[in-house]
Amino acid sequence: MAKINPDRLLADLSHLRTFGAEGSGVVRLALSAIDIEARHWLAGRMDEAGLDAAIDGVGTVFGRSRQPSPAVVIGSHTDTQPSGGWLDGAMGVIYGLEIARAFAESQRERDLAIDVASWMDEEGTFSSYVGSRVFSGEDPAEAIANARNRDGVTLGEALTRAGFAGRPLARLEHGRHAAYLEAHIEQGGRLESAGKRIGVVSSIVGIRDMRIIFLGQRNHAGTTPMPLRRDAGMALIAFAHRLDEVFRAIAGPETVWTIGRMELDPGSTSVVPGRAEMLLQYRDGDAARLNRLSERLRSLVNETDSAGPVRVSLSPFDAPVAPAEMDAGLQGQIAAAAERHAPGQWIAMPSGAGHDAQIIAPHLPSAMLFVPSIAGISHDFAEDTKEADIALGCQVMADAAASIIRAARG
Ligand code: GLV
Ligand code: MN
Ligand code: MN
Repeated sequence: MAKINPDRLLADLSHLRTFGAEGSGVVRLALSAIDIEARHWLAGRMDEAGLDAAIDGVGTVFGRSRQPSPAVVIGSHTDTQPSGGWLDGAMGVIYGLEIARAFAESQRERDLAIDVASWMDEEGTFSSYVGSRVFSGEDPAEAIANARNRDGVTLGEALTRAGFAGRPLARLEHGRHAAYLEAHIEQGGRLESAGKRIGVVSSIVGIRDMRIIFLGQRNHAGTTPMPLRRDAGMALIAFAHRLDEVFRAIAGPETVWTIGRMELDPGSTSVVPGRAEMLLQYRDGDAARLNRLSERLRSLVNETDSAGPVRVSLSPFDAPVAPAEMDAGLQGQIAAAAERHAPGQWIAMPSGAGHDAQIIAPHLPSAMLFVPSIAGISHDFAEDTKEADIALGCQVMADAAASIIRAARG
């Protein structure tokens, strides 16, 4: 059995952490200068591991094995949130790199093909899951269209500046790729509170991101009497409160919703806001419930708009992401490997976080493995995982990948 090298794995993870390090966290937004630097470093490490590495036309770093088919793709992402942790995405990518190296060094596994990927923009700096969507067959022009970052730079412009635009694309090869595997920190507290070390992911939540705009009348905050105001800011706050009640009434046990951004224009204490905007996200594993939440949201927007005096409108902020089931056979292979390395210390569990695996799953059998997050914290600089758990997860995934390739060979 191929043995992963925990020191080498942790050394590469620590090195990747230096690109964009801020305190204990990482700021490495997709296609920022530091993200581009990290992608070139990663491609170099893949080459050293004996993979044919390239950064593709949408910025995905893809290391292709020279071994014969069938291949397993192991990947995740190396871009981060604006206040990201050092392991979210990075860990799954470096697992792929380490497993490819461990196989190359192993007498029994050296001819098993592992392709390694760091997908572009999982975190949605421009648009979520661009790399895995394009790998899965989406037209890159469609993935790029309308995608802009907060500064108004389009994804197309950013790819051109980085020198990636027009390059060949890493695409799913049906004759070659047998499965997609992704390892990730849990980003929640279930494993820790259950005292377990490995999560075998059963399903991944669906996600909707919406923009709600309130248009009133900007005016002087000292001279405009309360009854005459069309205050977009107050309308937004009242709407947010009402929305919370409406969603609570139809929520299931796993439904979550978040207002992650609010902006009042012009943002001065002496001006009644004339425009306000909120970004709302809601998630659920049940597609029908997601649709019900969307319907209630739409009617609440229409009711509020009709009642006035502030106009309210709703539009999608990012492409909707469907919930996904993980492949049962692959889950079984990961569970069996977990039982071999950590008997009784694993559980099956759903993912409340989104992952590239849910984009790829409808096109290629896919599965995921989680390791515990200390105190359940993620999307924050404090995100962390015990080194022993990072090493264990990689060994379990290596073992599962070998069995999966052998099973695919038949
Ligand atoms: C992925 O980063 C998510 O927001 O779930
Ligand atoms: Mn994330
Ligand atoms: Mn992630």
